Amino acid sequence: MEKVTVFSSHEAMYASLVELIDNVLGDRPAINISLSGGSTPKAFFDYWAEAKRDAGFWNRIRLFWGDERCVPPDSELSNYGMTLEHLLGKVPVPAENIFRIRGENDPDTEALRYGELIDKEATPFDLIMLGLGDDGHTVSIFPSSIDLWDSRQTCIVNSHPDNGIKRVTITGKVINGASHVAFLATGYSKADKVREIVKNNVGSSYIYPAARVKPESGNIYWLLDEEAASLL
Ligand code: 6PG
Repeated sequence: MEKVTVFSSHEAMYASLVELIDNVLGDRPAINISLSGGSTPKAFFDYWAEAKRDAGFWNRIRLFWGDERCVPPDSELSNYGMTLEHLLGKVPVPAENIFRIRGENDPDTEALRYGELIDKEATPFDLIMLGLGDDGHTVSIFPSSIDLWDSRQTCIVNSHPDNGIKRVTITGKVINGASHVAFLATGYSKADKVREIVKNNVGSSYIYPAARVKPESGNIYWLLDEEAASLL
């Protein structure tokens, strides 16, 4: 079921994603979630931490990342570092439930290691959180490297087209194999690509990696604020 929801407030949007996670978790012993990076998740993680600080379920949440910049975890560019600041430092996720991509390692070695880890521990993911780049990228697969989407590998190394910073990223088969996929997109800068992708405009899946997110489960949710949805 593809569901596109436009929220009049960020708080309502975050509450909806928290509810989705609650529903995926249910009374299951544990679930595997792949987190998105960049800046959009910061406010969601703050909200989630505040809303569920005493929930008592954090030992049943196993956290992975969809991509990571090849930088040390204490770098301001690190997705893990961002998550530590906005979520992990506030809630009692056991250390053994945190599976970070080691950005400080050799990228090729880390891509193999993390891919094997996902294959062993988290296939399929119960939920993959995704962001949307202004250019239509998602995780660290960009329009200029869209062919990497179809890699047979679970994790690959890619480089950001503008700053050249290497990234380790999951690939299309991991995303489309997930039980649930949730895009979180806010702001006017996303509106053009949201329209192109959500409306499934002709050719979008040839150009934008985010347009190739079509989980076999059919469970894809677009959580948008009014600005990101302003061209729908
Ligand atoms: C990353 C992300 C990336 C992000 C989009 C949106 O490491 O940058 O995983 O895919 O989700 O670029 O980024 P913003 O949330 O900062 O707009």
